[in-house]
Amino acid sequence: MSLKEVLIDEMRDLYSAENQIIKALPKTIKQVSDDKMKALLTAHLEETKGQVVRLRTIFEHLGKKPTGKHCSGMEGCIKEVTEALEEDEEGALKDAGIIGASLRTEHYEIAGYSAAIAMAKTLKEDEVVKLLTETLHEEQTAAKNILSGATSILKEADAQEDEEDEEEEDEEKDPQEKESEEKSKEDEEEAAPEMEKATTPKTEKKASK
Ligand SMILES: [Fe+2]
Repeated sequence: MSLKEVLIDEMRDLYSAENQIIKALPKTIKQVSDDKMKALLTAHLEETKGQVVRLRTIFEHLGKKPTGKHCSGMEGCIKEVTEALEEDEEGALKDAGIIGASLRTEHYEIAGYSAAIAMAKTLKEDEVVKLLTETLHEEQTAAKNILSGATSILKEADAQEDEEDEEEEDEEKDPQEKESEEKSKEDEEEAAPEMEKATTPKTEKKASK
């Protein structure tokens, strides 16, 4: 395998990721309450379609087909968005969950494009570098806009929480939530032997209240 093949693999991954986003984003947009965030995500959906076209241009330039690799990482990111959509919360609180998951999605893409650009630079594929960088800038701007748009939503969500706090005390956990909690516990246990080797203090001081 050559570096060029690794780059093509990386781009197939991105191509699958972008298509998964195009499929999933309309459902997310429908459930967002905040008008500005809705507009922002709608604009990014259109931008994403352009990114797919741009990737096709690069594949053509490299004489390769864009198909053949499903991006499991993006599947995971989108699953987290879907989980946020399934939460019982409404309004700003639901938007807050969607913001967290959407920001992860953007940064996952930023990582993928950054790696692909570094490879293309090494290979002196200038046209590929130029096109991939255009998309990288779009992703970075989208992430920045999501974060700045989040400020007012998070303040609203904070106020909303106070009103709803008392109702949630005795809430039953659904099976999916339980399974997720068990898996998280397993992660912690499996990481424990490695954590034992940590040079930082093993136990944190108890918060004094
Ligand atoms: Fe994208």
